[in-house]
Amino acid sequence: MTRTVYVNGEYLPETEATVSIFDRSFLMADGVYEVTSVLEGKLIDFDGHLARLERSLNELEMEKPEAFDDLLDIHRKLVELNGIDEGMIYLQVSRGSAGDRDFVFPDPEVVKPTLVLFTQSKPGLADNPVAKKGIKVISIEDIRWGRRDIKTVQLLYPSMGKMAAKKEGCDDAWLVEDGHVTEGTSNNAYIVKDGKIITRNLSSDILHGITRAAVLRFAREAQMEVEERPFTIAEAQDADEAFVTSASTFVMPVVEIDGAKVGAGEPGPVATRLREIYLDESIKSGI
Ligand code: PDD
Repeated sequence: MTRTVYVNGEYLPETEATVSIFDRSFLMADGVYEVTSVLEGKLIDFDGHLARLERSLNELEMEKPEAFDDLLDIHRKLVELNGIDEGMIYLQVSRGSAGDRDFVFPDPEVVKPTLVLFTQSKPGLADNPVAKKGIKVISIEDIRWGRRDIKTVQLLYPSMGKMAAKKEGCDDAWLVEDGHVTEGTSNNAYIVKDGKIITRNLSSDILHGITRAAVLRFAREAQMEVEERPFTIAEAQDADEAFVTSASTFVMPVVEIDGAKVGAGEPGPVATRLREIYLDESIKSGI
């Protein structure tokens, strides 16, 4: 089936959807994005993703796309048109195309943002077999820019991190700055020690994960102790458990860090339980 995608007000077959070669996301990485998961045909944490999109746009002084208030309908229509039961919706807003290359932002009265959305069908996303065995990560230095709280499309370094992990037979990389883990290449990072969940505090050093917010809320509601502070790779290797969260992996156990087994080297009870709670609760509140 040809995927139907959305570009600037139109629903088109993916083969007919186009964006200008002068689009600033293409030339300058001048764009922001969101990834929202779909489970049982429903959008998960949609309001959180929309709120973060608005924040990213504000932080970059980028205009909201004209269709901003219709984004829920657009997401739902794409789910329906593409028959998505489990998967993701990718959304990108760029500062548009001024018809040439120029570092200076174009006049927002003249140049309108580009809005693109497409679906990714991922049957078996919730029941992902990888979650039953966990993933292996390596650590690399975090050399990204200083505004990681803005969800921009500057994803070259995260891609390089995933490639470095792949070359070492691992699944992902954790990024380390000043001796402390910031986050994963495309997820937030956690460890569990003596029943306590430890994850880096929010700041411009990390993306404020929508899944993170929900998982920490569920953890606190389940009377689990949470501490928000930076931790080192050595502390993580010595932890009882480790895991990551994101809209595409939910809660994913980490069983090895830089070749050292975490705990028993298999998914632990806290990560396993948080994954169950997150999936149950978010399917219930999906829209
Ligand atoms: N990535 N940190 C980074 C650097 C991320 O790219 C992501 C999400 C997260 C988790 O955020 P959330 O829980 O809101 O998905 C943390 C998405 C899934 C991606 O790039 O595909």
